[in-house]
Amino acid sequence: MDYSRKISERQWNLPEKGELESRREATYIDDIIQKDHIQRKLLENLDGIKTVFDGGAGSGRFSILLAKHGCRVTHFDISQPMIDKAKELAAREGVLDRITFVKGALEDLGAYRDREFDLVMSFDAPVSYTWPNQNRVIGELVRIAGKRIAVSVSSRLGSLPYLANPIQKNQFFLDEQADDPFVRWCVANRERMIDGFSFSRDAAEKLLYDGLMGGEDEIAQYEQGGTPWCITYAFMPDELERILSACGVKNIRLSGPGAYGRTIPRDILVKIMNDPKQKKDFLDFCYRYDSSPYVCGMGKDNLLATGEV
Ligand SMILES: C[S@@+](CC[C@H](N)C(=O)[O-])C[C@H]1O[C@@H](n2cnc3c(N)ncnc32)[C@H](O)[C@@H]1O
Repeated sequence: MDYSRKISERQWNLPEKGELESRREATYIDDIIQKDHIQRKLLENLDGIKTVFDGGAGSGRFSILLAKHGCRVTHFDISQPMIDKAKELAAREGVLDRITFVKGALEDLGAYRDREFDLVMSFDAPVSYTWPNQNRVIGELVRIAGKRIAVSVSSRLGSLPYLANPIQKNQFFLDEQADDPFVRWCVANRERMIDGFSFSRDAAEKLLYDGLMGGEDEIAQYEQGGTPWCITYAFMPDELERILSACGVKNIRLSGPGAYGRTIPRDILVKIMNDPKQKKDFLDFCYRYDSSPYVCGMGKDNLLATGEV
């Protein structure tokens, strides 16, 4: 009962999470691309947006951005350590007075009125961690939105390549010598991951069929006091569109941040990132390519949807 929420809360309460999350763009190229894409999408559509709800706002990548652009933001998250990190960063950016920090679970948004916020947003999969309540949570996010909604969730088609490539993340290390614990672990275990790998068609077919990553094993680990990764529901593009449409969202646009970047080997990506002119041109082009609905499912991790209510 309620295992997804409890597992997610324990995972995101790990004390170092806030600091690691806030350093993502300094460590991983796919995170640079994803953040750039979402940021552009938000800033292009800020007309008439004064109040914002950010659900699963983490260390404040987007809540702080919109506060800096003059919005009043409710930064809502299940994890107090993540909120504490966001507060520290908001203070550094001089926008503490424009952000209200609330600790809570997306599964319970009953405290908020219909259409209370001009823009409701939730990025980088918090909705996917609310399985089996993800459809109801989307409905609640739409309910409290007055003008616009923007959500990014785990992408099923985008997650499937991980099942055939245990070293996919290595492609996106900005610096292989970085002092990040996950980078260190991936570099040290690269050969072992390849040697120990064998493709499981059953696992791929299962994920394609039910969209669920995690389950019984994670529950057992949690019960033994462990900190497994969140049980995650990954959406198909047409499914997400259908759910939003059924909630009354209009002008739905889907995109797949990272779809272009994931086709490029690491050596080339690093070269592009280390040249400011190429980096700018590349990110401009990624935004255009990844905004095509034809590639939205292949976003690196995430499927992004925006729309009007
Ligand atoms: C990958 S982080 C994304 C943070 C932020 N949206 C961003 O894009 O930088 C996921 C966040 O969702 C939060 N979260 C996970 N499950 C949640 C739930 N059921 N209710 C509210 N927040 C949740 C976590 O604490 C974490 O801060």
